[in-house]
Amino acid sequence: MILKSTIDRIMEATDIVEVIGEFVQLKKRGANYVGLSPFANERTPSFTVSPAKGIFKDFSSGKGGSAVTFLMELEKYTYPEALKWLAKKYSIEVEETVETAENKEEENRRESLMIVSAYAAKFFHESLLDTDEGKAIGLSYFKERGFSAETIKKFELGYSPDQWEAFTGQALKEGYLEEFLTDSGLSVKRDNGSLYDRYRGRVMFPIHSFTGRVIAFGGRMLKSDKNVPKYVNSPESEIYHKSNVLYGLHFAKKSIREEDNCYLVEGYADVISVHQAGIENVVASSGTSLTVEQIRLIGRLTKNITILYDGDAAGIKASLRGLDMILEEGLNVKVVLFPDGHDPDSYVRLVGTNGFKKHIEDNKKDFILYKTNLLLKEVGNDPIKKSDVIRDIVESIAKIPDSIKASVFIKECSHLLQIDERALLSELNKMRNAKAKKDSQQQTNRMITPVEEYPVYEPVEEIKETSSQEKEIVRLLLLYGNKVIDWDGIANTYIGPFMIAELNDVDFEHPASKVFIEIYSKEVENGILPEEQHFIHHPDKDIVDLVVTLIATKYTLSDNWYEMHKILVPDEQANMKATILGAIFHLKKHKVGKMLEDLRNELQKEQSVEDQEILLNQYMRMKKVEKTISDYLGSVIIK
Ligand code: UTP
Ligand code: MN
Repeated sequence: MILKSTIDRIMEATDIVEVIGEFVQLKKRGANYVGLSPFANERTPSFTVSPAKGIFKDFSSGKGGSAVTFLMELEKYTYPEALKWLAKKYSIEVEETVETAENKEEENRRESLMIVSAYAAKFFHESLLDTDEGKAIGLSYFKERGFSAETIKKFELGYSPDQWEAFTGQALKEGYLEEFLTDSGLSVKRDNGSLYDRYRGRVMFPIHSFTGRVIAFGGRMLKSDKNVPKYVNSPESEIYHKSNVLYGLHFAKKSIREEDNCYLVEGYADVISVHQAGIENVVASSGTSLTVEQIRLIGRLTKNITILYDGDAAGIKASLRGLDMILEEGLNVKVVLFPDGHDPDSYVRLVGTNGFKKHIEDNKKDFILYKTNLLLKEVGNDPIKKSDVIRDIVESIAKIPDSIKASVFIKECSHLLQIDERALLSELNKMRNAKAKKDSQQQTNRMITPVEEYPVYEPVEEIKETSSQEKEIVRLLLLYGNKVIDWDGIANTYIGPFMIAELNDVDFEHPASKVFIEIYSKEVENGILPEEQHFIHHPDKDIVDLVVTLIATKYTLSDNWYEMHKILVPDEQANMKATILGAIFHLKKHKVGKMLEDLRNELQKEQSVEDQEILLNQYMRMKKVEKTISDYLGSVIIK
């Protein structure tokens, strides 16, 4: 069995366009790529790849799924074989073993570390909101910084009491093991073997994994003391590898996909303030320089990064090299500076959402052109310096894998640098040739050509009553399960758990939907809201198929459905409550209808008068349920 951690690493590294590009010639169309189906003989491309979602859908054969599914379908690989193929491509070492007690234990250890981290987040959050010290010190600090109650809740911000053992003592009392307290870095061991709190008298920023579980903390001090670091962060652990984590990514990922852009800032406070201002596609590298893993994390969601810098020139020059790495990963980089002394946090509070957005629009510059201008300013009349700058810039351009894009930059930079385009191109080619062969191989493998329009395929879904109603529930869970809604005055209800609770008396029949609901319920029980990626990478092909079909195609059931039942829901998002309850109650009504039919059949067959009476009672009760549901739905039952 391949270790879960290895699978995660493979999934993180996999670029579906690159993988499929080795087998299918893909062309870009808007946010997606299209090509001729490798599974069917066709003239007009109906095979679509969505890099943002990491899925493909072949509208002629109906196949769809992740990069793994693609390899399984095309190369007839088994699940582990497909994973190994990807691991080889991305030079990831496959850790694989039979399921020994040791593996199990490793998984269990990771799980335990996550559980203790979740407990700590809750402890700090409650001590912020419910204790006098927390309120007086932590909460008033956050309020002063302009963080709303909603923001504090969403980011699970907290406060660690200014004592040596407040957290550790409580955690031990509640039965958390020393081993996990120290390994997660929450507690530190004294020489005499006793434990004390790592974080004392600090406001706490939990750091979440991609899927939203707490895996680490940053604790900010509140006094100003030059001898103490401003932030104390969790040490590396089995669940926290700093270089693989971006602060805020869990809250940002959806918006990053939607906006097809990711804002990159420096600190926790920047992420939170910008997010609170309604700009949710923002993450932080948390003070360290950006790593390749972090860039790849973003690259799975969008190919566009916009860096929001504080206006500190020295810091900017120092980070130029790091930005080349982004180019190398094939992403587009833009840069926005803020007026001296401002960081995104202070600036967004100063000018508000619209002012902030306008500043970005007015000031964003492409990284390469920005860099060219910045370096040119320092050249003056020095020819040697100038040739250094030219080499430096061309080096950056040479990192761009897409040669068409690179040649556009060469053209623009030749203007800025006042140097013949051909001279730059020959310099570029020299560097390119010198670069490792494998780079150029990857390049030809990709075979991506510029934008071209193709007709949009809108497959017609076969609508079978029960299964399509059940699929509608699955679709809503996928789309909105992790959204919050204000429900009859109860603010911030998560839609997923609400729907699951409402559906607990419903038996799903459609096999894949049934399994989907089981998985979803189980995760919700564990306090997790599963994301579509969770299902896209599921080993069960039927699940992947169901999910991909629901998210890849414009699923029209919903519209038809409400029209058929004369319920006006012009926009399901605008009327979320009606959409959700409508779907749930239609399904319930359908099930109740079936039960009534079964009862009628039984009644006809039943000979004994007593049993008939029991059945009749059941029938009447069921009829009432049906009426309640129908009343709710506002529809009239016509017999
Ligand atoms: P900043 O000093 O800009 O912090 O460092 P900030 O988040 O803007 O905090 P405020 O506005 O002063 O409250 C940027 C990031 O660098 C990391 C943190 O992740 C911080 O958010 N950092 C900074 C540390 O890890 N340790 C430190 O001592 C300082
Ligand atoms: Mn700051």
